[in-house]
Amino acid sequence: MRLSKRIQAVTPSATMALSSRAKELAMQGKDIINLSIGEPDFNTPEFIGQAAIDAIKVSKTDSYTPAGGLPELKEKIADKINLEHKTHFSNQNIAVTTGAKYALYVLAQVLLNPEEEVLIPLPYWVSYGEQVKLAGAKPVFVKPEKGLKVTPADLQKYTHHKTKMLIINSPNNPSGQVYSRLELEAIGKWAAERQITIITDDIYGKLVYNQTQFTSLLDLDEEISQNVILVDGLSKTYAMTGWRVGYIAGDSEIIKAVNSLLSHSTSNLSAVSQYAAMAALTGDQACVEKMRSEYEQRLNILAPLLDNVTGFKLMDKPQGAFYFFPDIGEALNLTGFDSANNFALALLEQAGVATVPGEAFGYPNHLRISYAADVDRVKEAFERIEAFIESYK
Ligand SMILES: Cc1ncc(COP(=O)(O)O)c(C=O)c1O
Repeated sequence: MRLSKRIQAVTPSATMALSSRAKELAMQGKDIINLSIGEPDFNTPEFIGQAAIDAIKVSKTDSYTPAGGLPELKEKIADKINLEHKTHFSNQNIAVTTGAKYALYVLAQVLLNPEEEVLIPLPYWVSYGEQVKLAGAKPVFVKPEKGLKVTPADLQKYTHHKTKMLIINSPNNPSGQVYSRLELEAIGKWAAERQITIITDDIYGKLVYNQTQFTSLLDLDEEISQNVILVDGLSKTYAMTGWRVGYIAGDSEIIKAVNSLLSHSTSNLSAVSQYAAMAALTGDQACVEKMRSEYEQRLNILAPLLDNVTGFKLMDKPQGAFYFFPDIGEALNLTGFDSANNFALALLEQAGVATVPGEAFGYPNHLRISYAADVDRVKEAFERIEAFIESYK
């Protein structure tokens, strides 16, 4: 069987690969601390699951729904966005998708032509570049001159007539960095002046810590916000990764195109999940704050401990999401590993700690460590990492 050139050009998701190897080892009875995963360790709040059960019981979930989602769900999503960002979206501006991941995939398909280029700041979430390639377009990775956030000057260096789109992810996976309002204004203005569409991936928008203010590009002046397409979802905010609820908000013409693609690919997001999503959005939001403050506590306990691990340097303390992304260059020197990739593989096999190497995010010499896990287990993981490094010295 000959595979398509498109799929041959795609690199399988490294986060998935490591996490499945970790699961394999755990199945063999090894004591694995899995810090490679990108999902909350909480259960979906009970009232959300109950709403899904109730909907099933009265057979509301038996049929196809419109491809872009139930009108009443889209209405609730639009209301929420309008309330939070002072926008004026209606149902025509919303499409519900099978996770934010598919929202991004669909946008690449409906917006990009072959040869067009998409600016993707480093470090990036693993799927952006591959999705752009699957649409036949070209990902262009932008390395920040300083720190872990890009500026218009960084972006300008990689921009020319083929540049069509920019993806901004704040809070960022993997770095945990959050762009300030001022930083976003500069980027938003720069992009609007050049008619470069911005996709803002706000999936971690509710997970910010220690008084950090979350600003979305949608919050900014109309000149900027009109040039922005929002991608968001319920996975991280409500511990609902398995329910696969994502959505897009933007210009109605784009949404029409999205709906058309959805109708020929997934049809609708599972109706069960759509009823669960409505409950999540309209129910008591105390669950969101409860999980957020738990992550915050973990961050504050664990960040100094991680910084103390020999050869690990946490350049900028994360302000959002639930990952550490330390520079491990010195640990590589001490242990003799030639890459974060080989370090992470050995760490998993020998010390039973699963992490994701920076290469997966286009950022060598770093390691992504999730703290969406029990705090004592993460502490134990840090001790194992220390012993692992020690054993090579
Ligand atoms: C930055 C970012 N965007 C999008 C997604 C996709 O989320 P989902 O498809 O679960 O909605 C993830 C999940 O890990 C993510 O980290």
